[in-house]
Amino acid sequence: MRSAKDFFKPLAVGAPEPVREIPVKPSRMIHFFPPSIPKMVAKVPDIAPTVDILLGNLEDGVPMADKEAARAGLVEVGETVEMGSTQLWTRVNSLDSPWCLDDLTTLVTEIGDKLDVIMIPKVEGPEDIHYVDRLLAQLEARAGLTKPLLVHAILETARGVANVEEICAASPRMQGLSLGPADLAANRRMKTTRVGGGHPGYLVRQDPPSGSGERGPDHEADRTTYQQDLWHYTIARMVDACVANGILPFYGPFGDIADTVACEDQFRNAYLLGCVGAWSLHPVQIGIAKKVFSPDPAEVAHAQRVIEAMGDGTGAIMLDGKMEDDASVKQCHVVVELARSLAERDPDLAAAYGFR
Ligand code: GLV
Ligand code: MG
Repeated sequence: MRSAKDFFKPLAVGAPEPVREIPVKPSRMIHFFPPSIPKMVAKVPDIAPTVDILLGNLEDGVPMADKEAARAGLVEVGETVEMGSTQLWTRVNSLDSPWCLDDLTTLVTEIGDKLDVIMIPKVEGPEDIHYVDRLLAQLEARAGLTKPLLVHAILETARGVANVEEICAASPRMQGLSLGPADLAANRRMKTTRVGGGHPGYLVRQDPPSGSGERGPDHEADRTTYQQDLWHYTIARMVDACVANGILPFYGPFGDIADTVACEDQFRNAYLLGCVGAWSLHPVQIGIAKKVFSPDPAEVAHAQRVIEAMGDGTGAIMLDGKMEDDASVKQCHVVVELARSLAERDPDLAAAYGFR
């Protein structure tokens, strides 16, 4: 184990000092684009101002034959597109792939000063983060970077979930985690065949009417079923591991692009459980993430009322028939602080919240 005293020393001579706090910036959506497709690259200047995070994807979804073109396309974006306050991230190929070493070497040395975060897929344990940590330090030193790159890991293997706390704590570079439901389902041998979201077969059923003695398929229609969330356990575990280590949790992809309603539901479950954002795989999901991960103006107004009514924030009061105390006012501060940070980036939200 590394001594606490050494944790914030650069891992290579000439590399920048590690950060002590992960910057909390608006991160409602990580919008994926394929840099291997020139038509998509051409749209980047228009899309960038509409999202909090733009991610050049080099991994799954990019055909093998296009891996090098994707890397080159992202370098071009980094060199030519003015990102303003939008963060630029990449998802590199997995550590065991033939492309990862060149992905990291090329991106850090050519556009390392333009990238904020590097997403590493299929992280299994802290040893994967230690490898990336040292390699990034060497490459940062070679590139003469003054700001360290941060690392985001995708939680998409059973071993990764089992080691989630150690992954979060493995390096001061760790910025956050995303749930990767598609790979995780495959790795766990879940019997789903979809990218994220619920499944109609994962349910519980109301008890039979008491004393009816009726059982079996003929009577099942009389008994209400409730679909359950396949991802509840993993998201909750991920949120706890992230918060315990001062890093940020995200929901990942929702593959049924046409089902905007279920996408919104899945994103909202993640938001309510503590996630800061989700992936958007299509422009239609940008608006969904923006809506869900920005607190509702009515909630913000309520939270401000509680804060106001609670004075110095201690004790207990009754407001609209409900008890409020030190703990509920803390929840209200979470909502108002998020609203304030989003309002700084988004004048429409500032107006909706009544902030000036
Ligand atoms: C994302 O990469 C996933 O596998 O869901
Ligand atoms: Mg995956």
